[in-house]
Amino acid sequence: MSIYIDPAVANSLRGFEMPERLGFGTVMAPVMFRAVCQDGCWSSGELVPYAPLALDPAAKVLHYAQSCFEGMKAYRTRNSGVNLFRPERNAARMAHSAERLCMPPVPEALFMDGVRTVAAYCANLVPANSGESLYLRPFLIGTQADLTVSASTSYEFYVIASPSEAYHAGHMRLWVEREDSRAAVGGTGDAKVGGNYAASLLSISRLRARGYDQSLWLNPGNRHTVDELSGMNFFAVMEGELHTPKLNGSILEGVTRDSLIDLAEAQGYTVHERDIDIDDLLALVRSGTCSEAFACGTAAIISPISVLGDGEVQYELTQVPGPVSEHLRQALLDIQEGRAEDPFGWMQAVAPIEV
Ligand code: COI
Repeated sequence: MSIYIDPAVANSLRGFEMPERLGFGTVMAPVMFRAVCQDGCWSSGELVPYAPLALDPAAKVLHYAQSCFEGMKAYRTRNSGVNLFRPERNAARMAHSAERLCMPPVPEALFMDGVRTVAAYCANLVPANSGESLYLRPFLIGTQADLTVSASTSYEFYVIASPSEAYHAGHMRLWVEREDSRAAVGGTGDAKVGGNYAASLLSISRLRARGYDQSLWLNPGNRHTVDELSGMNFFAVMEGELHTPKLNGSILEGVTRDSLIDLAEAQGYTVHERDIDIDDLLALVRSGTCSEAFACGTAAIISPISVLGDGEVQYELTQVPGPVSEHLRQALLDIQEGRAEDPFGWMQAVAPIEV
């Protein structure tokens, strides 16, 4: 389908000034992609100036949380090109999230139109420093104005973008969350929906007051195996081997998690996807058998974990950052930023469009 480019886009892009400090997700690119779905029929997409949305106060998304999103990045390569990383994985995951919330999946071709158009027009906004990128945030919302509890008949799909540094650069102190759950068994834990993040905020505000950065969520069914961190997946390194919670329906299947498993195995590491009991893990950290742990995600890439806090007790990792996470972070960034061969076929080049 053809994509309509609003003539005002050129001025918006020309008028944009990149600030000196980027941070994560606070500077917004001046354009966005939009498509609408009415009664199951998708429009073609359009690129328009970034602007607030006009939503009816009775829109389903505001009351019944019909909303899902993706996180992905456009990377600057060493020859000044722009790359997307495994975008079809994000398209598939967003379709899964949409179906879980009874929303019409964004067709893969439309999803690709959205991310490729934004990346192409915003090519000059992709930062050049290693570890920085143009963070892309596709999202889908139910817009029908109707307070009955039923699926919306109308939806809007957007792709916005933000030139960003890595999320959570530096080491992280994790709090083992033994009270709250982020998602119920049989709920939405393996879907990327706003409600999962809303459910994590109270825990995060409590732990921040205690000097921690993120919650380490336990499985909501058994309350004793490790699930994930909400915005990131979890890995531990024990005697040089990698261990990560196996997917179980309440863990979001991270694209970075999946890529690191393939990359680590290709580099000769053994990777175990298994249930990790929290008390066993803490004992292994205490004994030094687990020397290194890290969180990974699109936004964060790889963030080393320095401490696991459980109630009043702190379990300190001895290698922060450890050699395995350092090695994998660099190997992944080398592929994403075009310094190394891409034996997996993960990268997709985007041709920049000048306005
Ligand atoms: C991502 O890594 O893209 C995420 O979605 C994490 C985000 C919630 C900050």
